[in-house]
Order: sequence, then structure tokens, then C-alpha cells
Amino acid sequence: MPATEWRCKPLKNMTKRLFPAIITLGLAAAFLTDLSVAQIETPDSSSLIVADGWKDVQANCTECHSSLLITQNSGNKAVWESRIRWMQDTQGLQILASDIEESILNYLATNYGAKTFSRRAPLNIELMPENPYQSEE
Ligand code: HEC
Repeated sequence: MPATEWRCKPLKNMTKRLFPAIITLGLAAAFLTDLSVAQIETPDSSSLIVADGWKDVQANCTECHSSLLITQNSGNKAVWESRIRWMQDTQGLQILASDIEESILNYLATNYGAKTFSRRAPLNIELMPENPYQSEE
């Protein structure tokens, strides 16, 4: 076999293996870039929606528990205020400066407001599995 062909073979094999790796890296990069463009959450681990007041929430509400505990809840301003009072009365949350508290309440009510519903409608009874505990008639 000619010397050039012999030398090229390993190179060819390497390209063969490199190609999928490059594609994978490219896709990963594209995916990550896309994510960062579409992201509306904070770039840090708090996952709070970036909007007026998020920094006040970050600074005052994430020292005892994760922000997840906050963002999985929802409610209007009164609901959020009652949660803050509950934490102040029972969990050692400090009294907040009134402008900070107002900012936090507005942020939470706007971005994590009352939901009209949070559960899917129940399945039609005909679509449910048989109830093993149902008494026979
Ligand atoms: C001094 C500590 C502390 C700080 C600061 C704090 N919390 Fe809490 N919070 C708690 C504790 C303790 C719980 C109960 C945790 C549990 O159930 O595991 C809680 C629970 C919650 C819950 C869940 C309540 C429920 O009904 O399940 C929400 C929502 C919440 N906090 C929001 C906030 C917000 C908003 C702030 C900022 C104003 C805040 N927390 C700051 C201590 C704190």
C-alpha cells in the first residue's frame, strides 16, 4: 500500500470520531445559548423571575429557606402579607422596612399571583380504573 494512504488512515479514523463529538458540542452550545436568551429567571440559583423587586426578595427571603418555597406558592397581596406576618410571628422573620415590604409584596403578588386553579379537572368516572373497595350491589 502506498505510504501516503497508510499515513492517512489514522487521521481519517480520528476525523470520523471527532465529527460526532463536534456536532454534539455544537448542539450543546446552541442549546445553552438559546436557554440564556429565553431565560426570565435570575442567572443565579434563586430562580426568581427577574422583575421589579426581585432583589429585595433575594436579599430578605432566601436566608432561611430556598426561594423554591416562595415560588411554588402563589396568592394575592393579602395572602403574601399573611405569610410574612406568620413568619414574623412564628419563624423569627425580622420586621421589614415598610418600603422594602411593599416592594416584596408587589413583586410576589405580580409575579406569583393568585391562580384561578392549579389542578387539572377530575377524570370522568368511566375513565377511572375500577375501584377495588367499591361495595358490590
Ligand atoms: C427568619 C427565617 C425566614 C425568613 C428570613 C423568611 N422565611 Fe419564609 N419561612 C420560614 C420558615 C421556617 C418556614 C417554614 C419552612 C417549612 O415549612 O419547612 C417558611 C415558609 C415560607 C413559605 C411557605 C409557607 C407555606 O404556607 O407553606 C413561604 C411562601 C415563605 N416562607 C415566604 C417567605 C418570604 C416571601 C420571605 C421574605 C419576606 C421569607 N419567607 C423569609 C422562615 C423564614
